[in-house]
Amino acid sequence: MPRLSSLAPARRRQVVAAIGSFSNLLMIYVSLGIELAKLVQEHYMNRRLSRQPIDTYMQRHYDRQRHLRNSTRMTDIDTFDQVRMNRTLFRKFCELLVSEGGLKRTRNVDIDEMVYIFLRTISQNEKNRTLRLNLRRSGETISRTIHRVLRAVIRLNNLLMKKPLPIPDTCTNSRWKHFKKCLGALDGTHIDVRPLKEDRTRYRDRKGDLSINVLGVCTPNLEFIYCLSGWEGSAHDGRVLRDALTRENGLTVAEGCYYLCDAG
Ligand SMILES: *[C@@H]1O[C@H](CO)[C@@H](O)[C@H](O)[C@H]1NC(C)=O
Ligand SMILES: *[C@@H]1O[C@H](CO)[C@@H](O)[C@H](O)[C@H]1NC(C)=O
Ligand SMILES: *[C@@H]1O[C@H](CO)[C@@H](O)[C@H](O)[C@H]1NC(C)=O
Repeated sequence: MPRLSSLAPARRRQVVAAIGSFSNLLMIYVSLGIELAKLVQEHYMNRRLSRQPIDTYMQRHYDRQRHLRNSTRMTDIDTFDQVRMNRTLFRKFCELLVSEGGLKRTRNVDIDEMVYIFLRTISQNEKNRTLRLNLRRSGETISRTIHRVLRAVIRLNNLLMKKPLPIPDTCTNSRWKHFKKCLGALDGTHIDVRPLKEDRTRYRDRKGDLSINVLGVCTPNLEFIYCLSGWEGSAHDGRVLRDALTRENGLTVAEGCYYLCDAG
């Protein structure tokens, strides 16, 4: 074959143009091939889905991974909608739970999935049953996983809970400058629970719902300082607060300081 440089200029242009159109054609064929492969795959996928039930171990694993990928790895918006934090934060939280909380993966469930189950449950009030279907897990596994992650989160309490610092005399923030020496704000909230039948009356709150009374204390930056949960919904806020102040490792108020409190 003659070298390109040894050809006459007109001939050279022709050769270059020919190569150009050949590669264009090749690209078209390749993308056609890819489209075709996608169609074939989709066809087989649909046939497989409509033929159900194939519920092998691998199939469940595959479904689960797909669900987890859609929910925690695709976009920040989707991840936030599912677990109330973006992907970066989700990753960090997983790492923190492993390194500081001592969370270990089990033979079947990896860390991402554990944390996902936990966050979905507490942030979306998700039912055992819905997650069971989404993740192709048994109710027992879901339940055990939540408790496992919860124990790790509790071990992080020194990291996650802030130490209260009083508002300094030099504070210029328009909202907080009038509250010198204030440590934060506290309020109670009710969280729905499903207690056993014989315990129901104790958990019924003023509105008639079944709940527990949770006391939360935050810094001015909305970081949690203290949280006391477990009191039945029928318990009065004042009683919960008194318990928080008197119990061992309870809420402490430094000399001369105070917390803002909703009088309701
Ligand atoms: C994941 O998302 C894709 C589209 O983004 C969707 O087709 C698929 O059904 C989703 N899978 C699961 C398990 O949610
Ligand atoms: C993720 O969330 C954290 C905390 O809310 C925020 O600091 C960070 O900028 C967010 N990252 C992205 C990529 O949005
Ligand atoms: C979740 O469901 C399973 C049965 O599917 C049950 O044994 C388990 O106790 C449930 N867990 C909770 C916390 O309700």
